[in-house]
Amino acid sequence: MKNIINDALKKYVLSINNPSLRDAIKYSLLAGGKRIRPILFLEVIKSYGLNPLDYVDIAISLELIHTYSLIHDDLPSMDNDSIRRGKPTLHIAYGESTAILAGDALLTDSFRLISSSLILDSNIKTKLIEVLSEKTGSNGMIMGQMLDLASEGVELPLFDLDQMYEKKTSNLIVASLVMGAIVSDEKNTQLWSNLGFILGLLFQIQDDVLEETLSVDIIGKTKSDTIRKKPTYVSILGLNETKMHILKLENEITKIINKLKLFDSSLYQLILKIINRSN
Ligand code: IPE
Ligand code: IPE
Ligand code: MG
Ligand code: MG
Repeated sequence: MKNIINDALKKYVLSINNPSLRDAIKYSLLAGGKRIRPILFLEVIKSYGLNPLDYVDIAISLELIHTYSLIHDDLPSMDNDSIRRGKPTLHIAYGESTAILAGDALLTDSFRLISSSLILDSNIKTKLIEVLSEKTGSNGMIMGQMLDLASEGVELPLFDLDQMYEKKTSNLIVASLVMGAIVSDEKNTQLWSNLGFILGLLFQIQDDVLEETLSVDIIGKTKSDTIRKKPTYVSILGLNETKMHILKLENEITKIINKLKLFDSSLYQLILKIINRSN
């Protein structure tokens, strides 16, 4: 799946006419991210017996939005980070204004990729755009980023931290799974939404553990939570209790997988890989 996604991303990059913008976007987008959001989307489609290859353009729209969020997240006025995906961040390599515009372009093009899909009918495309914009807009991921910035140096209760993680990280993972279900004509998307919510929380909490336990070389990004005194699961609960909490979330995921009857699927294998990730 990852190769298919990377090939489609390369094709997207070639469609960008302005050479400087194309180079900048290529620099960030093809820098070797894990691609978990587009892969999750395609695996949901596969679990319904459809051919994931038909929906690659929609899959990469998720990676475009994700990459835009990382480029803007790293800016000096945000997390002010210098390493991403194992390389200098985009604003360091290409300048701040190009980084802002590259993010803007990725965000906008993401919705164009969905609306211009030739394989889906308009009704489904509208639903996809609705979910993606709801989950990443002012009451979704961007709200999470606002909460995150406001949390610097503050001791948050776990409830508030969960809300921040839900918004800034779970929401795009929820969108990936729910959009996969919508494309597959599944009317009841609630279980997929629940799965995305828990998986996203687990993913973000794991990020806290990885930042605490691994080197910058391995995680491929700077340890900015520590530098900027951001509250994290590890700073609030300590490493051991955080790991126990991750196990509880794993249990919740297993229950949902059971309800969705997905134990034999490659989607479940992928989820297990995400749960056990080391970067
Ligand atoms: C990083 O996401 C931001 C978080 C939500 C923790 P990923 O860990 O998926 O980053 P890439 O795409 O692999 O670089
Ligand atoms: C990134 O969150 C979430 C978004 C970009 C929406 P973080 O700031 O916690 O993630 P890293 O550590 O930079 O990857
Ligand atoms: Mg951030
Ligand atoms: Mg950051």
